[in-house]
Amino acid sequence: MEALELLGEPDGLPAFPLPAGLAGRYPGSLGFPEEWVYANFVETLDGVVALPEVPRANRLIADASDTDHFVMALLRACAHVVLVGSGTLRASPSSKWLPESVYPAAAAELAELRTALGLDPQPRLAIVTGGRSSLALPEGAAARTTVLTTRAGAERLGGELPGVEIVPVSEGDEVDVRAAVAALRERGHARILSEGGPTVFASCLRAGLIDELFLTLSPVVAGRAPVVREALGLVEGEPFLPETRVGATLRGVRRSGSHLFLRYGLG
Ligand SMILES: NC(=O)c1ccc[n+]([C@@H]2O[C@H](COP(=O)([O-])OP(=O)(O)OC[C@H]3O[C@@H](n4cnc5c(N)ncnc54)[C@H](OP(=O)(O)O)[C@@H]3O)[C@@H](O)[C@H]2O)c1
Repeated sequence: MEALELLGEPDGLPAFPLPAGLAGRYPGSLGFPEEWVYANFVETLDGVVALPEVPRANRLIADASDTDHFVMALLRACAHVVLVGSGTLRASPSSKWLPESVYPAAAAELAELRTALGLDPQPRLAIVTGGRSSLALPEGAAARTTVLTTRAGAERLGGELPGVEIVPVSEGDEVDVRAAVAALRERGHARILSEGGPTVFASCLRAGLIDELFLTLSPVVAGRAPVVREALGLVEGEPFLPETRVGATLRGVRRSGSHLFLRYGLG
C-alpha cells in the first residue's frame, strides 16, 4: 500500500488506541464518540460515485486504490454496524461488508482493534429496503444481519430470509431512516458506518443523521452522458440548494499519491 501522509487535521479529535500496525499506516488520529453515524465514499474528480451498469465500477472509480480499501477496512473496524441500502447490496453481491474482507493483509490488527474497543468480532450488517424485491445476503451473514424495512416489506421478506432479524420501522413504501437508526441504537448498535449509496446517503442527510463523511477523492474523471450510461453523484434523490444549505467542516486531509482522503464534520 502506498503510504498515507497527514496533511492536516484539527487538534482534539477523538483518538482510538490503534494497534501499531494500523497507526503506522494511518497517521493522525481516528476515533468516534460512542453514538455516531459516519459515511464513507470514494468519488471521481468530477463527483461520480457509481456507474450502475458498469462491471467493477467501484474499482474504476477508486482508480484501484489499495489505500482506499485500507481506509474502508479501518472505518468498518470501528463500527458496531455497517449500514447499506438495497441498491448498494445488489451492486456488490460478493461483498461481505467486513473489515478484513476488504483488506485481508491487516486482518489481525483490525481484529485486535475491535477487541480493544469492546466490539463484537464482526460488525452487524444493516440493510435499508422497502422490501418490494428479494434480497440476496452475503453467504453466512444471516445471523449478523438486520433488515430495516416497512411493515409491508417485513411481511414480504419475513418468509424469504430465515434467521435474519427483520425490523419494520415505518408504514408506507419508504423506510423512515430516522426510525431505522433509532432501531439500531435500541439494539446497542450505536456507532453506525453508512456505506449506503447516494440515495440512502441523501435520505440520511435530509434527516440530519450524518455526523461525519469520509470522502476519498480519486484522481480520475468519470464523465457524464445520461444517454450513454447512468452516473450517480454523491447525493441522489434530494435537492438541497437553494432551499437548504448542508455545510461541512473539514476535519482531516490525508494523501496517498494523487488520492486525497478527506474527513468532514456535518451538522
Ligand atoms: N463510490 C462509493 O463510495 C459508493 C458507496 C456506496 C455505494 N456506491 C454505489 O452506489 C450504487 C447504488 O446506489 P443507490 O443510491 O441505488 O443505493 P442505496 O442508497 O444503497 O440504496 C437505495 C435503495 O434503498 C431503498 N430505500 C428504502 N428506503 C429508503 C430511503 N428512505 N432512502 C433511500 N433509500 C431507501 C430503496 O430500494 P428498495 O426500497 O426498492 O429496496 C432505494 O432504491 C451502487 O452502484 C454502489 O456500488 C458507491
